[in-house]
Amino acid sequence: MSTPPPVWLMRQAGRYLPEYREVRAGVPSFLDLCLSPKLAAEVTLQPLRRFPLDAAIVFSDILVVPFALGQKVEFVEGEGPKLEPVRDAAAIGKLDVGAAADKLTPVYETVERVVAELPEMVPLIGFCGAPWTVATYMVEGAGSKDQASARALAYGEPETFRALIDTLVEASANYLLGQVKAGCRVLQIFDSWAGSLPEDEFERWCIAPTRAIVDRVKALAPDIPIIGFPRGSGPLAERYATKTGIDAVGCDTSLPVGWIRAALQTRLPVQGNLDPILLATGGPALDERVKWIVETLGQGPFIFNLGHGILPQTPIENVERLVALVKGDVG
Ligand code: CP3
Repeated sequence: MSTPPPVWLMRQAGRYLPEYREVRAGVPSFLDLCLSPKLAAEVTLQPLRRFPLDAAIVFSDILVVPFALGQKVEFVEGEGPKLEPVRDAAAIGKLDVGAAADKLTPVYETVERVVAELPEMVPLIGFCGAPWTVATYMVEGAGSKDQASARALAYGEPETFRALIDTLVEASANYLLGQVKAGCRVLQIFDSWAGSLPEDEFERWCIAPTRAIVDRVKALAPDIPIIGFPRGSGPLAERYATKTGIDAVGCDTSLPVGWIRAALQTRLPVQGNLDPILLATGGPALDERVKWIVETLGQGPFIFNLGHGILPQTPIENVERLVALVKGDVG
């Protein structure tokens, strides 16, 4: 039998774990958890104690960057993130890249703590949100179904929007480099809303800023692989994979596995793409799909993952089963 692919899961630390809920119950807000190095390190390591995963991912959030830039960011229980919207040149001009570095030092301390605990074989993945995705939250002031406010600003006032994206490129590159300096050996850029832009804007607001971040990080950390995750981008994932300079591409659940193999994996390593709802559901359908993904993509460079983050209702037994299936420990 061939060597099983490495496996980790987006949002592998989180509410589906009782030990996470316990730590979370002891802090006033989610952001406090992200910025408490001792607790964030503990939560990062929790899934690794339960499952033989091949990587850990720093416990934090993509919205710590707007917070560090000086925007007001809150996580409201049951409602998700709430931010004071940034919609004009004056508000964008107030964002402070210089001040951001200091405010993110707790995350670097989390990284140091985790790396001290992890076996040498298990790398820690650092991450940031892609400028486009982070900007959608900053402009809207919350999560949104269609990212309408950010799209409208990008179409209507491209120069204003560019100033926001440029600020995010700089802050995000610094943030990734800070995580590498603290001990991360892999990076991932989450572009969760890449799918809401048509092709020209996708080039302008997803590909180009990601390329700019990759160039900045590679200039100082050339050996650190960067995974890009352009969720929902469909066939544009191919352009993204070739033009951003990333080393591996994360594939969401909507991409056909055969297409991933033919269009993406022939060029670079791929990661993905099990449906998180199937993981939460379990049963024979889960077994079949996992085997099929491993058979199809396991012949080339491949990291097994979900197509999006793990859901809070996911039974722990299903995660155990998934990891065992990928590793070939059960039939
Ligand atoms: O993958 C991991 O285990 C690392 C931790 C991680 C979190 N968020 C923890 C989290 C990572 C990598 C993220 C990324 C993130 N955050 C993204 C990109 C990936 C994606 O899911 O599309 C986005 C868009 C966010 C923004 C965000 N954070 C939202 C919209 C929400 C609220 C929705 C929700 O699930 O509650 C969060 C909160 C959040 N981030 C939680 C966790 C574990 C849940 C908060 C809690 O425990 O109360």
